[in-house]
Amino acid sequence: MMFSALLLLSLVLSTSCFYPPVVNISLDDPPEVRWAPLLKVFDVTELNKAAAEVIDSTVPKWVHQALAPVVVALDKYIPSPYAGEIRGMASHFGATLSDIIILNFAYEISAFCTSIVAQDTSGHVYHGRNLDYPHDVLRNLTINIIFLKNGEVAYRGTSFAGYVGLWTGQSPNKFTVSGDQRGKEHWWEWWKNMVSAFLLKRSPVSWLVRETLEEATDFQDAVMRMSKIPIITGVYYIVAGVRGGEGVVITRDRQGPADIWPLDPLNGRWYRVETNFDHWLPPPSRDHRRDIANKALNATGQENINIDTLFQVLSVYPVCNGITVYTTTMSAAFPDNYTSVIRPQGCHKTD
Ligand SMILES: *[C@@H]1O[C@H](CO)[C@@H](O)[C@H](O)[C@H]1NC(C)=O
Ligand SMILES: *[C@@H]1O[C@H](CO)[C@@H](O)[C@H](O)[C@H]1NC(C)=O
Ligand SMILES: *[C@@H]1O[C@H](CO)[C@@H](O)[C@H](O)[C@H]1NC(C)=O
Ligand SMILES: *[C@@H]1O[C@H](CO)[C@@H](O)[C@H](O)[C@H]1NC(C)=O
Repeated sequence: MMFSALLLLSLVLSTSCFYPPVVNISLDDPPEVRWAPLLKVFDVTELNKAAAEVIDSTVPKWVHQALAPVVVALDKYIPSPYAGEIRGMASHFGATLSDIIILNFAYEISAFCTSIVAQDTSGHVYHGRNLDYPHDVLRNLTINIIFLKNGEVAYRGTSFAGYVGLWTGQSPNKFTVSGDQRGKEHWWEWWKNMVSAFLLKRSPVSWLVRETLEEATDFQDAVMRMSKIPIITGVYYIVAGVRGGEGVVITRDRQGPADIWPLDPLNGRWYRVETNFDHWLPPPSRDHRRDIANKALNATGQENINIDTLFQVLSVYPVCNGITVYTTTMSAAFPDNYTSVIRPQGCHKTD
């Protein structure tokens, strides 16, 4: 009763969501110029104001100084194509290189999220995610990006203007992926991450998502890459494919997999929910997102799960909450149904 009231409410409230702008980025263009289409959908002044807000509230001033050597030798520290893309972005925005670098690492932490992979009774797999981040201004920076190669859609994702990595994406007819932060990190650890990226050449977690979308041939290949390739920090990667059973939560350590948690539909495990805590441990007592999402999925039932009902589950408080920036629903076998909506601030205040 309580639950259906919530569902009804979320149906009503979801009409106040809005869609992010779409930009086409051609991978055939050189990295330095390929992000220029951003300027067709964003006002440079607004963009810079928004970026400054993220940076000022996230990054201690001395980090700007510490970054000076990286800025003068960008290509030595940051691999292709990201060095070129970051340099290009700075020039398109009229921003300093260090600000764009900082922006790209500032988002690497504190991405609180809920990701769900679920399979219906016919074996179709669906994937949804909420991205939570405590900066209102990110609602104004959210974009859907279509990456084109030879004029064809190579892959797509949802991200923030100025950011070269991806936390959410789809390789059409192959797989979908989302990343959720693992555990809580502090800014001094964030600084270690930056050192680890620049000096040890480890991949930021969002760069591995993008590379996997670009290169992996299918679900299995994607899972293999996202399990094994060293990254700068722990994370959860949630991956869904195009066939029954193709859904998994990968719990990552820096060096490799800590745990692989696949769908097990034959034994009634037709969905997996991952928030920001290891699935085999109870979440902190104040955080009810996992339990509420499980309840909502049980109430929906495998026979009723689809892209729309998955969106409803992702709309229930506190799965969707005051800092939820966007919700994406997707299914790699139906690539045109990829949908992201920006959530109004406060999502639902029906606690
Ligand atoms: C983006 O590229 C796709 C595929 O080529 C095309 O259908 C679409 O019209 C393009 N959109 C924009 C905004 O250029
Ligand atoms: C986001 O954009 C809206 C509409 O353009 C604007 O009114 C608002 O001030 C912006 N928010 C921030 C935090 O910049
Ligand atoms: C959801 O259903 C499964 C299978 O019946 C059950 O094991 C689990 O406890 C239920 N979860 C919640 C939160 O109700
Ligand atoms: C994809 O979208 C189309 C058009 O809205 C809809 O008819 C179809 O049911 C959707 N497919 C899935 C798997 O959600």
